[in-house]
Amino acid sequence: MIVTIDGVAASGKSSVASGVARALQVPYISSGLLYRGATLLGLQAGLDLHDARALLVTLQAQPLRLEPLAEGNRVWHAEQDVTEQLHSTRMDRGVSVVAALPEVRAWVDAQLRALEAPFVAEGRDMGTNVFPQAPAKFYLTASPRIRAERRARERPEDVPAIEAALILRDQLDAAQSAPATDAVVIDTGPLTLEGVIEAILAHLPARVPSA
Ligand code: DC
Repeated sequence: MIVTIDGVAASGKSSVASGVARALQVPYISSGLLYRGATLLGLQAGLDLHDARALLVTLQAQPLRLEPLAEGNRVWHAEQDVTEQLHSTRMDRGVSVVAALPEVRAWVDAQLRALEAPFVAEGRDMGTNVFPQAPAKFYLTASPRIRAERRARERPEDVPAIEAALILRDQLDAAQSAPATDAVVIDTGPLTLEGVIEAILAHLPARVPSA
């Protein structure tokens, strides 16, 4: 059983996926962390992030591993936990470039498809591209202002600056981020985190075969 939760940047996908996974007692997979990990390797190696070939050589030469822990996914590189380095403003800018490269997308997709179900997978194209066979798909939205206000509680930046950066990221991510035709679209704006998790769980019994 695979549940996919896609959506726009800062729509709360990780927290929601974590909560849904906990309720179902399965792991959750944060696919964006693999794109962020690939970006970190590229930056550390001093590569031009548009250079797909060089990035791929680096990714294949240096192991990058996603550890799907229930309390938050970790990314390991060469025996080192690099998770804390993956959420800076610099990383946010670079990852949109890296995630637009088809070669890197193919690498990430292969990592994800190698994982053993059941799990809840969150990202941008889990329901459309990576796991189109998943029986339960969700897509989270919220206005840029609401997302910026939520993010401002995590980072010491002002709301208009975060909002402008989010609108730019929405544009950069648009090519790979869309709801699957069979996804349930949820506007998280008026909902609390628990409310979104409950809305998803309420859809599941009818949608996920128990076998
Ligand atoms: O969810 P996130 O913000 O950690 O994602 C980081 C970046 O990776 C974001 O720019 C979109 C991209 N991404 C993607 O293109 N496809 C995915 N399945 C997940 C993330």
